[in-house]
Amino acid sequence: MKLWAGRFQKETDNVVNDFNSSIQFDGRLYREDITGSIAHATMLGRQGIIEEHEAEKIVAGLKEILYDIENNDLDVFNPEYEDIHMNIEVALTQRIGDTGKRLHTARSRNDQVALDMRLYVKKEICEIMQLAIDFEKVLVEKAKENLDTVMPGYTHLQRAQPTTFGHYMMAYAQMLRRDISRLEDCFERMDELPLGSGALASTTYPIDREFVRDQLGFARVTENSLDGVSDRDYCIELMSCLSMMMMHMSRLSEEVISWCSWEWRFAELDDAYSTGSSIMPQKKNPDVCELIRGKTGRVYGDLMTLMTTMKALPLAYNKDMQEDKECVFDAIDTVKQCLEVFAPMFRTMTLRKKNMRKAASQGFINATDCADYLVKKGVPFRDAYMIVGRLVNTCIRADETLETMTLKDFASISNKFGPDVYDALDLKTCVEGRSVIGGPAPKEVTRQINKIETFLADSEEQLAEMRTRLRT
Ligand code: ARG
Repeated sequence: MKLWAGRFQKETDNVVNDFNSSIQFDGRLYREDITGSIAHATMLGRQGIIEEHEAEKIVAGLKEILYDIENNDLDVFNPEYEDIHMNIEVALTQRIGDTGKRLHTARSRNDQVALDMRLYVKKEICEIMQLAIDFEKVLVEKAKENLDTVMPGYTHLQRAQPTTFGHYMMAYAQMLRRDISRLEDCFERMDELPLGSGALASTTYPIDREFVRDQLGFARVTENSLDGVSDRDYCIELMSCLSMMMMHMSRLSEEVISWCSWEWRFAELDDAYSTGSSIMPQKKNPDVCELIRGKTGRVYGDLMTLMTTMKALPLAYNKDMQEDKECVFDAIDTVKQCLEVFAPMFRTMTLRKKNMRKAASQGFINATDCADYLVKKGVPFRDAYMIVGRLVNTCIRADETLETMTLKDFASISNKFGPDVYDALDLKTCVEGRSVIGGPAPKEVTRQINKIETFLADSEEQLAEMRTRLRT
């Protein structure tokens, strides 16, 4: 029989039972649900809302249920009881008798589910943050190994200016740094206990929200009960953070796919992280990268699902909000899976440094440096730019590069060119000269690395502190 059967004269139609129930996907919240109920029951006992011995019986029963679920003695949740909250309550009453019926005093499923989701999201933010930190460390490791690995930087996918693979890695490290700090922000903002909001207008029982807050490790209690039960901002905020993180992983995936193509040959994935073709014997495919690129769309979809679900909901709880679960779970699962596979795939990738250098020496990526050489000899930049443009044009027609032009060729275009031009065009000079803050000069990239390493150490400390606020 349903817990709410009293008001009804008929059984629920089976089609409605299946349609209405969420146990198929919210079963994963069993830990959060039980932990929340233990804190609630303890508080009820302390406040004299139920008897102390009743509270103790409830807590013991809940602990047993948790043990049984985790040891597979109780894994069949019943759709008849709709969701994880009622399934556990029913299991409790079956186990300890009528005392179990006192657990739901001064509480509604509305603030119960709001609590469970927050506990769950808090825990998952910590896990994702750890994975993001680990991935960022891989980027830093690659950067350190490649301070001098010259490669072309691109705009419009045209070879543009010289940079290094180390510099390139640190660009992605900046994206990850922002992703990590966004997760931290999200955690801080959402760290509020909604329990005590009741169905929507709180309760007349003398509950102690501060005690429950402390038991469950929240920083604050929610300030308004209507908002407490109907706020899903933190889920949306997390999914926006995750969407952006996926976008960053997708951009890097796209680069890896290009680097691994036979046209570029800048990199090769380890066999353990690539796949073959069923028909073409020569193929070694970057499927992992493509899947990450593909799953990015899926996480954006999860975000859009909840944004759209919430957009016209009046206060307070509406059943539409049950639709928050699958998209939040899917986004979290997907991002974790992507980070888990991307980091080792990237770490084990081999670079073809010679090919990178060759590409860097063929696309006139030192043309800006050539113009700057003339500027140093007193030529205004616009004129220098024009002169070098003509020079490049000549080179292209003669199938030469700037470095292979003779001094006579240079002199025929401008008498400002001297033998020192070859040194100015050397890619090492070009990279080392770009030593302003943010540039690719190895010394400067080392500074960027040091700063990110400090950030990572701080983030790990912060994460350890955040974990002290978890209870599940
Ligand atoms: N399964 C529901 C959900 O996930 C729990 C809250 C139900 N509340 C209600 N009034 N029907 O949203």
